[in-house]
Amino acid sequence: MPAKKKTVFLCTECGYDSPKWMGKCPSCGAWNTMVEEVVRAAPARASAAPASVGKESRPVPLSGITQDEEERVLTGIGELDRVLGGGIVRGSMVLISGEPGIGKSTLLLQACRSLCQRGPVLYVTGEESLAQIKMRASRLGIDRDDLYILAETDLDNILLQADKLKPDYVVIDSIQTMFSGDMTSAPGSVGQVRECTMRLMQFAKTSGVPVLLVGHINKDGNIAGPKVLEHMVDTVLAFEGERHNSYRMLRASKNRFGSTNEIGLFEMTGDGLIDVPNPSAALLSGRPENASGSCVVATIEGSRPLLSEIQGLVTKSAYGSARRTSAGLDYNRAVLLLAILEKRAGLMLGAFDAYINVVGGLTLDEPAVDLGVMLAIVSSYLDRPIRHDLAVFGEVGLSGELRAVSGASQRVSELARLGFHACILPATNMNGLKAPEGLRLMPVKDIREAIKTCFETEK
Ligand code: TYD
Ligand code: MG
Repeated sequence: MPAKKKTVFLCTECGYDSPKWMGKCPSCGAWNTMVEEVVRAAPARASAAPASVGKESRPVPLSGITQDEEERVLTGIGELDRVLGGGIVRGSMVLISGEPGIGKSTLLLQACRSLCQRGPVLYVTGEESLAQIKMRASRLGIDRDDLYILAETDLDNILLQADKLKPDYVVIDSIQTMFSGDMTSAPGSVGQVRECTMRLMQFAKTSGVPVLLVGHINKDGNIAGPKVLEHMVDTVLAFEGERHNSYRMLRASKNRFGSTNEIGLFEMTGDGLIDVPNPSAALLSGRPENASGSCVVATIEGSRPLLSEIQGLVTKSAYGSARRTSAGLDYNRAVLLLAILEKRAGLMLGAFDAYINVVGGLTLDEPAVDLGVMLAIVSSYLDRPIRHDLAVFGEVGLSGELRAVSGASQRVSELARLGFHACILPATNMNGLKAPEGLRLMPVKDIREAIKTCFETEK
């Protein structure tokens, strides 16, 4: 047995070190900031000059650097490849985070299906048994010899097995269940997550094997563990959606090898996740006809236009203070939009409860949805449906003015493609905008005018 490496507990606030864990740092007085770290002996240096790894590295003129195209491998899942920026880059580390049960393990197992056609894949599971993985694989119709499953949480053994197997791809499900024997703290603790990620990173960079990590999120929606986890990996993908709804959105929040503007849309079915090639049509299916409180907005998620239905419900308040809830939209933004409606459009919402919902379980964080949210509320308040072939977009300012948003031409083309006949949009967006055939553009200056146009135009 090799001798245990020495570890110390370091305060993340002031850097104070101690041989044992303490709840309160004796130096700066902060609570719960001591994190375990492995002490690595510094390499012996011949001189006072900074040591370099292996050979001496020298500055190179920018023009003298030859650029190799990164080697990318497609995972065979169109939407995943799109979010990754065109496949997985060799030697890169990708973190996929999401709530429990959202489908992280399913997505990665499906990705393994086509990855293992190019070389052996090592899928390490720290959460499920081999039988459970087999069951999921049979459900997904995967049965391959070059997909190796390892049920293990000890990182030393995982790296040893990876060294023996020489896989072309490694999946770690999940990083919070792994532990490095050098440390005494429990798996999932800040120190362990950091240490395990660092060792896997070294493995990825030295062997050129891409490592896909699954990461849990805590109840605030952040990735559980240290922030450095996100700094260390090359790509962070967040898997979002409502567990009880079948749509899932994959969004890149960091990508060293591509844009962070891409989203991927999936649907969870009985046979695993499937790509949704026409998201707008999928999201609008099942829209009620002639019902008040429903408005279609043209948003842009990533670089793709996406039509989405927003619903609003306004009812008389049974209690003294009015209730407001919002699903799929920032709560504070929703409350602000209601306040603008009250002040600038004269709606007496103070005595009414207001509920806002984005259909499909998606989260929309673009200001261009403001107008849609407000018109859905007005429609419910007046109990007058918005005509079925009308959609809107536009940001609304505090004085009730409509502000221009980017990508107007993409939005209107998507509306025309899906058969909409009318679109209310900010007047300032009209500059140079050409109406696609069959779509009538109705520019407005402020929220009052928007309400008038929405409910008073003839069909
Ligand atoms: P899972 O990948 O285990 O989620 P995570 O790893 O993010 O915790 O998937 C969880 C859910 O997906 C589970 O409730 C069952 C469902 N599911 C399907 O609906 N269809 C399928 O084909 C599979 C494999 C799972
Ligand atoms: Mg899982």
